[in-house]
Amino acid sequence: MFTSRRNLIPGEVSNAMPAGVHCKTNIRSLPPFPEGWYFIGTRETVLKKQLVDQAWMGLNIVVWCDEEGNICVAESICAHMGSDLGPAAGGRVVGGWLVCPFHGFEFDTSGRCVATPGAAPARSAQLRVFETREIDGLIFAWWGLHGRPSQWQLPAVPPNGGGWSGFQIRTVRFRGHPQETSENSVDIAHLSYVHGYGNVTNETPVSIEGPCLESRFGFTTNRKIAKIGRLSLEVSAIAQVVGLGYSFVEFQEHSIGMDARLWVLATPVDGTLIDLSIVSRVRELRKPKRRIAGLGFLPRRWRAPIMNKFVADLQIQDVQQDVTIWSRKHYVPRPRLTHSDGEVMKYRAYCAQFYPDPLDCEAPSS
Ligand code: FES
Ligand SMILES: [Fe+2]
Repeated sequence: MFTSRRNLIPGEVSNAMPAGVHCKTNIRSLPPFPEGWYFIGTRETVLKKQLVDQAWMGLNIVVWCDEEGNICVAESICAHMGSDLGPAAGGRVVGGWLVCPFHGFEFDTSGRCVATPGAAPARSAQLRVFETREIDGLIFAWWGLHGRPSQWQLPAVPPNGGGWSGFQIRTVRFRGHPQETSENSVDIAHLSYVHGYGNVTNETPVSIEGPCLESRFGFTTNRKIAKIGRLSLEVSAIAQVVGLGYSFVEFQEHSIGMDARLWVLATPVDGTLIDLSIVSRVRELRKPKRRIAGLGFLPRRWRAPIMNKFVADLQIQDVQQDVTIWSRKHYVPRPRLTHSDGEVMKYRAYCAQFYPDPLDCEAPSS
């Protein structure tokens, strides 16, 4: 992700801009920062850029990696005298330590000050750091009410053989809330009405265990893809929602025989805007069940990356359709549902755990 904090342009990050943002959006009846794990970006990007800054959960943060491979996510405020630590202010990483641009204090990836130019570091000089978790090279950080530590973990992605393409990542920024975007996974009715899917089936009831919600559904779709033409797809999907910032969807496409994995990662930026990152990968297509125009001529190693690009393009088209609705909608605490709506209220009851009562949350000791 790593969308610059100086680039708060609603709807835009990777060439995706919804047509305007409606000012009547009433998302404020939902607290803006539900507790949970939220996407930061990829390890690959941290290594490439060395020091990254971005807006995240109403804060400015910096992210870097030391020489042992430990990633640090810290609030971008120096513990000495409050300088910004990001690259625009002059922050830099030297030998795995973050060097403040103001007086040269150095911080390791635990956030502790380990050196200063003129004296032994004050023991209390400690950055505010966030717990991190990495899944397949995707970095997440924990946001706890009043800074409390993680109450649950993100599950590892189940092993599912090799031959997967790299990631396609598309991020869209818009006025929204992560509870509203994740609600899509149980809102079966909108799949046909907004996205035009056919034969939408809800295969089993939504299951919930602690912070994990699982929804299984199927659909068909007929889509136009540049340079390939129309492609009809028959899809079964298992969506795992784990907190409001993390959804993981495994797709099986039956007519071609294609497996795809998709992460839908909603991250509050500043209490009004969210970044929605769609991360996809596709398994190598050894023997497509049917011919796909253009694909058969390609070397096998190119097929999965190219199909992944198509999958990402299709997903972002769907997301743009959703963003048009999301960025203008009101949150309705008591929706007037019908039998065709899916298990929306079960989802809402599940979401309540991510807004703990402040009285149940002990303030951190320091
Ligand atoms: S403010 Fe960072 S070293 Fe002084
Ligand atoms: Fe949708």
